[in-house]
Amino acid sequence: MTGFLKDTIEGFLKERRERGLERSLSLSAHREGLWVEAEGRRVRLFCSNDYLGLSLHPAVKEAFIEGVERYGVGSGASRLVTGTQEAHLELEERIKRFEKAEAALVFNSGWHANTSIIPALADRTTELFADRLVHASIIDGAILSRATLRRYPHLDVDRLEGMLKRSRAKKRFILTDGVFSMDGDTPPLKEMLYLAERYDAHLILDDAHGAGIMGEDGRGTHSFYGVEGSERLIYIGTFGKAFGSCGAFVVGGRELVDYLVNAARGFIFSTALPPAVCHATIRAVDIVEEDVERRRRLKENAAFLREGLKALGFDTLGSHTQVIPLVVGDNRKVVTLSEGLFKRGFWVQPIRPPTVPEGTARLRITVSSEHRREDIEELLKAMEELKDELKL
Ligand SMILES: Cc1ncc(COP(=O)(O)O)c(C=O)c1O
Repeated sequence: MTGFLKDTIEGFLKERRERGLERSLSLSAHREGLWVEAEGRRVRLFCSNDYLGLSLHPAVKEAFIEGVERYGVGSGASRLVTGTQEAHLELEERIKRFEKAEAALVFNSGWHANTSIIPALADRTTELFADRLVHASIIDGAILSRATLRRYPHLDVDRLEGMLKRSRAKKRFILTDGVFSMDGDTPPLKEMLYLAERYDAHLILDDAHGAGIMGEDGRGTHSFYGVEGSERLIYIGTFGKAFGSCGAFVVGGRELVDYLVNAARGFIFSTALPPAVCHATIRAVDIVEEDVERRRRLKENAAFLREGLKALGFDTLGSHTQVIPLVVGDNRKVVTLSEGLFKRGFWVQPIRPPTVPEGTARLRITVSSEHRREDIEELLKAMEELKDELKL
């Protein structure tokens, strides 16, 4: 490396190191359920998004292998060329039925979905209103769209209403996570859809961490709030988290899907998901729908851990889901806490700015339906010891 590129890269990394914000990759090897080997140590995962343990479910793995036998490995082209195979259409049909929607379209990832759908729907004549804590891919989708982006304070519907009231734009979209990825809380969708109706806006809901989990039926955060089927709602879910696979989907009206097939650039110009992945994901959707017990266990585990942490005096913000933040504040202290847990056999990732706002560095603890009660009890015991040791 030489010249300005050397200066830029070295300067960036130096600053990140000095502020305790450098990121690096960790290998999780030999995964067996929630146990992995990392840095020569066997540790229990408490930071995976495989909330229902489906990435290792025997029936899902079997479907994946069957899919590879049937379709091979890659899809060979984008969906609009020769990449659409039976498995893509079958998955769209399956997720449409699960979501009780009119139509569905599959994307390669949640990132692809947000950075394709938002720019397909919004343009320079649009105002976008996004919660301050939405996921990075929503922001990037908004930037790509060239619309005016306004941010309202987290979950603050009054401020959102003020912004909508002042808006003179031709088109308006409200953008929000379903389950907030770093906070584990949820937006008041009923009130937000009421505002959408009142101020002629549409709501794009990115339910990456709620799809397959939230609501009695696991359909998602829209189901939890009883607002599925609203004409003002565009619902996006991912397959990479609760469904244990990868990819994403949008559900809505037939015309919306037809429009996105023609206008969503990340859908049009990218090689389609491997069909075997779609074949396996169909099985995962079946399990999410049928295995009520698995979803019940997840909720019980999350409540047990959350209450335990609160009893120890930790701040878990407004989480009421399987994503449980534990706010430490200081960037270096959160890393020390994570390292202390690692030494005691638990892998919990520290999350620092810019992923979360300055001064709110935290552990992002996630629970799975596959954690046993004693796993959680042991984590709580380790947290109690470290709380005293690190004077938290
Ligand atoms: C809220 C939210 N949206 C979108 C994504 C991206 O989804 P994917 O991992 O499928 O690209 C994530 C990933 O963590 C997320 O948390």
